[in-house]
Amino acid sequence: MKNNVRQITEKELSGQKEIMRKVREINTRLDNKPLAFIDTYGCQQNVADSEKLRGMLSEMGYDFTDSEKDADVIVINTCAVREHAEKRVFGNLGALTHIKRAKPDVIIALCGCMAQRPGVAERVKRSFRHVDMVFGPHVLWRFPEFLYSILDGRKRVFSTEASDGIIAEGVPSKRDGTVKAWLSIMYGCNNFCSYCIVPYVRGRERSRSPEIIVEDAKKLISEGVKDITLLGQNVNSYGKDLDENVDFSDIIRRINDIPGDFLIRFMTSHPKDAGEKLFKTIADCEKAAHHIHLPFQAGNDRVLRVMNRHYDRAGYLRLVELARQYIPDVVLTSDVIVGFPGETDEEFGDTLSLIETVRFDALFTFIFSPRPGTPAAEMEDPFTREEKQVRFDRLLELQNRISAEKHASYVGSVRRVLVDGFTGNPEYPLSSRTNGGRLVHLKGPDSLVGSFAEVRITDSNTWALYGETV
Ligand code: SAM
Ligand code: SF4
Ligand code: F3S
Repeated sequence: MKNNVRQITEKELSGQKEIMRKVREINTRLDNKPLAFIDTYGCQQNVADSEKLRGMLSEMGYDFTDSEKDADVIVINTCAVREHAEKRVFGNLGALTHIKRAKPDVIIALCGCMAQRPGVAERVKRSFRHVDMVFGPHVLWRFPEFLYSILDGRKRVFSTEASDGIIAEGVPSKRDGTVKAWLSIMYGCNNFCSYCIVPYVRGRERSRSPEIIVEDAKKLISEGVKDITLLGQNVNSYGKDLDENVDFSDIIRRINDIPGDFLIRFMTSHPKDAGEKLFKTIADCEKAAHHIHLPFQAGNDRVLRVMNRHYDRAGYLRLVELARQYIPDVVLTSDVIVGFPGETDEEFGDTLSLIETVRFDALFTFIFSPRPGTPAAEMEDPFTREEKQVRFDRLLELQNRISAEKHASYVGSVRRVLVDGFTGNPEYPLSSRTNGGRLVHLKGPDSLVGSFAEVRITDSNTWALYGETV
């Protein structure tokens, strides 16, 4: 391991297992099984972390509830990427005072990326006295210890020390669904894009061992999972910190070699080090989904430079061309930020024209949110929120038109989809995804959930396709 990253030892983990056993013993003495409620904000990394929280809670004898009011333990797993999400968390935390008043024994925990941000733990300590514990992503594996110390009558817990990060293998995990699964292959980020808080709260890039990843994938497949998403902030950096000579494409190939009918997806790949090897691997590996999420953030070279993205517009467009050469039916999605400090109308025009040129299948669009501690938060920003909103609406209108046109071109074709659940709409009761990840609302029997099906696409709109089984 080349970074200053720490691997949690088996001894440390077995210490936590011992504590989980003690908590379970306490809980088995209760008349009813205690209930936990987990609220998850942010990206798939956080969803994967919440699966670990569920795994640990389950080992400690908790069942789960969708209602905060019924819970004995409430965990809020937060995101720090935009201010808006943080405001919502503080709002929700405030509202929990009523629950604590009605039920003083309830344990309330705040964790995740926002908890790791400087000042947040102090604010909670001072102003949210009903919150029992605050801990950052680096110490998630110590959750049983924190919980036990509160059950054991001790003081509130605050654990948010800065860290380059850790790797903790063997933490139990309990998945939400059965058809799809998240599989973290690496943690952290080294890129320090000038607007982004993630590297500060998630530590440095660190890759899990390839053997453990493949073992995890085999286990998921043996459990019936049909769609595995490999997770990392920049999966193309996978392996750079390992002594072994292994990269992200090698991981795709190794998982592709596991017998079974399943799909491999991944997110996110950073354009600065995506390239021919990755595209060729996706084209060669029959289980690799033909979908690439390749965030471009901005279409103007000056803005990209100030964002510290390490590629330019021409380089991005070349990459898209190369991806389409190797994978002609590739579905391309992306992230874009509107209103980066000082971005002029003309520079924003370059973002629009890049969207017109590439014609993404879908976009995740964000208005710039200043994150204290990042360079962009200090930059001069002459444009008002209203001006940015006007640009944002224009961008959305453009992308909605493109998405609708792209979706319309599916109508009449027959596609293989993975049926992953229910929509709640009696006319199209099933939800499914194409190989490229587009959502298809489907007519068909409930028994199809969990399997692949051939479907005819009969209708479409901006957001989804509609179909029936053939
Ligand atoms: N690692 C991924 C990458 O670089 O492509 C992105 C992960 S980030 C959690 C998801 C998206 O949030 C980014 O691609 C960016 O568009 C957006 N984002 C990050 N920081 C932001 C900020 N300060 N304001 C607005 N959007 C932001
Ligand atoms: Fe944030 Fe950039 Fe890292 Fe993505 S690559 S997590 S945008 S710093
Ligand atoms: Fe993800 Fe938000 Fe953290 S996007 S890595 S949960 S800051």
